[in-house]
Amino acid sequence: MKPLSIQPIPYQGSKRALAPRICSLFPKKVGTLYEPFAGSAAVTLFAAAHDLADEFVIGDCYGPLIELWKLIIDSPSEVSERYAEVWHAQFDAGLSHFKDVRSQYNENSDPVLLLYLIARCVKNAVRFNKEGKFTQSADKRRTGMKPDRLTRTVHAVSRLLKGRTTTFHGDFLGCVGGSSSNDLVYMDPPYYGTTYGADKRYASGLERERLVDGLHHLDAESIPYILSYDGQLGDKVYGEPLPSTVNADRLAIHAGRSSQATISGKFAETIESLYIARSLNALNADIYRLKPTQQRLFA
Ligand SMILES: C[S@@+](CC[C@H](N)C(=O)[O-])C[C@H]1O[C@@H](n2cnc3c(N)ncnc32)[C@H](O)[C@@H]1O
Repeated sequence: MKPLSIQPIPYQGSKRALAPRICSLFPKKVGTLYEPFAGSAAVTLFAAAHDLADEFVIGDCYGPLIELWKLIIDSPSEVSERYAEVWHAQFDAGLSHFKDVRSQYNENSDPVLLLYLIARCVKNAVRFNKEGKFTQSADKRRTGMKPDRLTRTVHAVSRLLKGRTTTFHGDFLGCVGGSSSNDLVYMDPPYYGTTYGADKRYASGLERERLVDGLHHLDAESIPYILSYDGQLGDKVYGEPLPSTVNADRLAIHAGRSSQATISGKFAETIESLYIARSLNALNADIYRLKPTQQRLFA
């Protein structure tokens, strides 16, 4: 299966390219697919387009992003009309436009301005300061997704998700609170390298201990999950494997050339870890068999 072409929020770190391989590990029948670290919700979109679950929950702790998802799903015309206005204004206003929109957004958290900032900023890579203000600069070589494409995309996404999708603003554990063993939780939290150290990327990172506590909770409730977490870029390994108390098997998945490395002018192969809950392996035994300690390269 090919990656989906519709992606309304062009988020750096999106799982759009990996979604077909991640979704190939889904059990045959999923009640609700929860994506509590949704960002651009690439896995949800792919799963919805291929009817891999009955219902969907898109969650994220960044409020304006969830407001944007609600608008895209419920009011795609409003998103496309307002986006077109901001997008066209850049040609009259000139160089100061992006900074003006960014200041406005940092005052009012308008989700459509957020969409424009993501589409127009350097490598679509959001960055926030300690106060949670959007700080990334404009990409001087590009103008951001054109309004006609954005219009087609948001309407297609709205048709795909409306009536079977709930949004959730808040912490991942609250988001998955209503899940059961018939559901599936796909998690793509900020990686170790973007939570600790200089490259603090999202408005909020996630401490490893909190993630591990969350996984223990899902294990205890036999709620199947798939987790993307850390990995390797060239020779550099990010983060330790999760502790063996987490009841999941670890795969390694070739993620192609790193966008981070491309930004800094280097070329390096990215390998990401994918943890599969053992409750999922049991459900999905026909398609996918792993010994508890086995690690495989899933290419
Ligand atoms: C790596 S991105 C997810 C990218 C996503 N898979 C995609 O396809 O675009 C991680 C997301 O988790 C969110 N986040 C960070 N900490 C969180 C938490 N404790 N609970 C819920 N969401 C969180 C961030 O705002 C960010 O949007």
